[in-house]
Amino acid sequence: MCEQIISAILRTLKSILRLGDTTMDNNKTTITCQSSSRPYAIVIQENCFHQIVKQLSPAQKYLIICDSNVKPLWGDKLQLAITKANISCALISFPAGEANKNLQTFSDLHEQIALRLDRQSTIITLGGGVTGDMGGFVASTYMRGISFLQIPTSLLAMVDSSVGGKLGVDTSIGKNAVGVFNNPIKVLIDPSLLLTLPKNYFIDGMAEVIKHAFLSGEEYITFLEDNVAGILAMDLSLLSTLIIQSVQFKVMIVEQDEKESGLRKILNYGHTIGHALEETLGYSSIPHGNAVAIGINAANYLALKCGLLSEAAFLRIQNLLQQYHLPIFLSDLGLTGDADQLFHFLHNDKKNQDDQVVMILLEGLGKPIISTTQTTLQIKEAINYVIKNRSLS
Ligand SMILES: NC(=O)c1ccc[n+]([C@@H]2O[C@H](COP(=O)([O-])OP(=O)(O)OC[C@H]3O[C@@H](n4cnc5c(N)ncnc54)[C@H](O)[C@@H]3O)[C@@H](O)[C@H]2O)c1
Ligand SMILES: [Zn+2]
Repeated sequence: MCEQIISAILRTLKSILRLGDTTMDNNKTTITCQSSSRPYAIVIQENCFHQIVKQLSPAQKYLIICDSNVKPLWGDKLQLAITKANISCALISFPAGEANKNLQTFSDLHEQIALRLDRQSTIITLGGGVTGDMGGFVASTYMRGISFLQIPTSLLAMVDSSVGGKLGVDTSIGKNAVGVFNNPIKVLIDPSLLLTLPKNYFIDGMAEVIKHAFLSGEEYITFLEDNVAGILAMDLSLLSTLIIQSVQFKVMIVEQDEKESGLRKILNYGHTIGHALEETLGYSSIPHGNAVAIGINAANYLALKCGLLSEAAFLRIQNLLQQYHLPIFLSDLGLTGDADQLFHFLHNDKKNQDDQVVMILLEGLGKPIISTTQTTLQIKEAINYVIKNRSLS
């Protein structure tokens, strides 16, 4: 899609968003996401976790899927609250971690569900992005698909993975290599669940939040700049605002391009080089959000050198990433990388178009473009900049 068209579509969408599908009732915000199958609601409300039972039907069977960390913190409590209300609810869990988001765990979960559920039953996925992606995939394939309710518990899952319908697992072919597009019946987001999330995962999720802000524009960026201390101190009111902004932004994009054939690609801002870092260094060596933050810095360097982004905007983005304790250079993590290996990976990426590396660049704050015109030399320079911590000149 032509670069100018992307910017124009985004501006038009932003201007109509405020009139769109968001309702606010006391401290409850409901954002409706339209999809080709059916619309679904994303509810953001502090402490809604403790009132979930009111939303369930006594005639139905429920089954919670969570990981081994979330089970003792929130899973057992949720199961108890549901069964206390005389509603049938089982719980199954799997060992936490990205390494377990695979076909073996997927198959184990199917076996554990076995004949406990029928076609009318609902699976509740309670957890971070790993649980949401894999649990949603299990629900979408059990008896050819039953309904599921997403309750995200990590920041990344609240602002990103629980919206947009991408479900799946990692395989030897690659990350998220096997999966489906399918939407939950509802997403319930209770920001207070974040109070038990380890700080490093919170910071990692902030990379996706900052990504949304720079794709979205001045209003969201200023909010993040003005509230660094409060957000890092886990002020729930600020976290609610942040989650609402991110969900609204992601919904606006995925509604236009559910299956990522055009506009949705802008959500890969920071991910082209970020993904290459994860692949070449190993997923367990660098957390996803950290890789994205460095990837954003590399993409911005490229935009700066191509004359798209001003130096002031470039430095403003670096500053915000650092204020949220995210790295901008590989050396910030005490890591070193191999520029040639990274470039080789980028060049062979399946997401390339006609052999050209696809990069999401900013031609200003809130003005992303999908670019394939950067030269090999420019990309190598951007890689070297974040690997070797080069100065700007
Ligand atoms: N579907 C999508 O569109 C999409 C988008 C972005 C990322 N993802 C996927 O999301 C995954 C990453 O998500 P993630 O960072 O949430 O990983 P995760 O699910 O592994 O959660 C991170 C860690 O936090 C723990 N945790 C989660 N909530 C907690 C809570 N409230 N209290 C205490 N501990 C808690 C988990 O047990 C885990 O150890 C990746 O697999 C990625 O591919 C999917
Ligand atoms: Zn990401």
